[in-house]
Amino acid sequence: MAPTVKRIGVLTAGGDCPGLNAVIRAVVKDACFNGLEVLGIEDGFLGLIEDRLRPLRMDDVSNILTQGGTILGSSNKANPLRFATGTNADGTPRIEDVSGKAIATIRKHGLDCIVVIGGDGSMSIAHELTLKARSTGVELRFVGVPKTIDNDLMGTEITFGHATAVATATDALDKLHSTAASHHRVMVVEVMGRNAGWIALGAGLASGSDAILIPEIPFHLETVCDMAVSRGRRGKRFSIICVAEGAAPIGEKQKIAKIDPTSPDPVRLGGIAEWLASAIEQETKIESRYVVLGHVQRGGTPVAQDRVLATMLGHRAMELVRVSRFGRMVAVQGGTLTDVAIEEVSGKQRKVRPDDPMVAAARAVYTTFGD
Ligand code: F6P
Repeated sequence: MAPTVKRIGVLTAGGDCPGLNAVIRAVVKDACFNGLEVLGIEDGFLGLIEDRLRPLRMDDVSNILTQGGTILGSSNKANPLRFATGTNADGTPRIEDVSGKAIATIRKHGLDCIVVIGGDGSMSIAHELTLKARSTGVELRFVGVPKTIDNDLMGTEITFGHATAVATATDALDKLHSTAASHHRVMVVEVMGRNAGWIALGAGLASGSDAILIPEIPFHLETVCDMAVSRGRRGKRFSIICVAEGAAPIGEKQKIAKIDPTSPDPVRLGGIAEWLASAIEQETKIESRYVVLGHVQRGGTPVAQDRVLATMLGHRAMELVRVSRFGRMVAVQGGTLTDVAIEEVSGKQRKVRPDDPMVAAARAVYTTFGD
């Protein structure tokens, strides 16, 4: 018989994203309405390792719908199965399996289920933790809500936060347009997107960028330079290039900004815009500048579309909880709400396909992908 759910936990894990609070609000309101207790787990899976939970009631989620960030805090360094507990003698981080602590916290607080609002890494942790607990005879139950500005989760067509990030990047590109035109410059704008170019593609299309460079389509420097030069010949003495942080020239590796060995996902990308602006200036003699938008894309109030999506996903997650449909991530497929097995989507990324209609539309308006 399916277990009766009386008390649930909710956590937000990984990089933050506009709309997290809207999901928390939907989960808590739905739970309260249906007589369930909710404990908010602080700082993602770290709160489970360190036993930091607090009750969430109606009043706690009042007035948070429009707030960016997460009232619960988040962490992208807290995989209980591979957690940095200190430093080894040689200076490297000491990585240990502390999943026992996380499982003990869940049992101590009597959590019948945890709603995990996170990306592919967080879904992997939920899945691994389920298997680990099962091997010790403990049954954990998770329901996932897909989150990432990158929009690269497998199993769902859209993640909340993405629309806001695209809107922020588009606004920046629009503003840079006029200054690029005034100074007859090439302006290279680096947006987030590690292995998937959805933000660059969306913002590049929306802003009418002259080049969109994404990780899925390696580019030739020469093609990008030719674009800027040929625009100049047609009297367009400026160009806008929207480049994803994970994009790279053909045959070359992605630019790495930093390695964080304490993070389960240690590589931080960055630097492609700086490199590209300098290379274009050298090759074409057209003055070039670069801008890195960075975490500004993750901040601020969610756009209406993300508030709606986040609320619908939070509500759908609670529907799954109420019918004891665990181990599932809520998703959007064919424009409608559904759910997929966390096991199937964990750790997998949804990338831009070269034949995506957005790529075709961009090419149709003479935007180059540098290929
Ligand atoms: O996955 C979301 C994301 O914002 C990526 O686009 C970016 O590469 C990464 O997180 C940055 O992570 P951090 O906040 O650790 O710098």
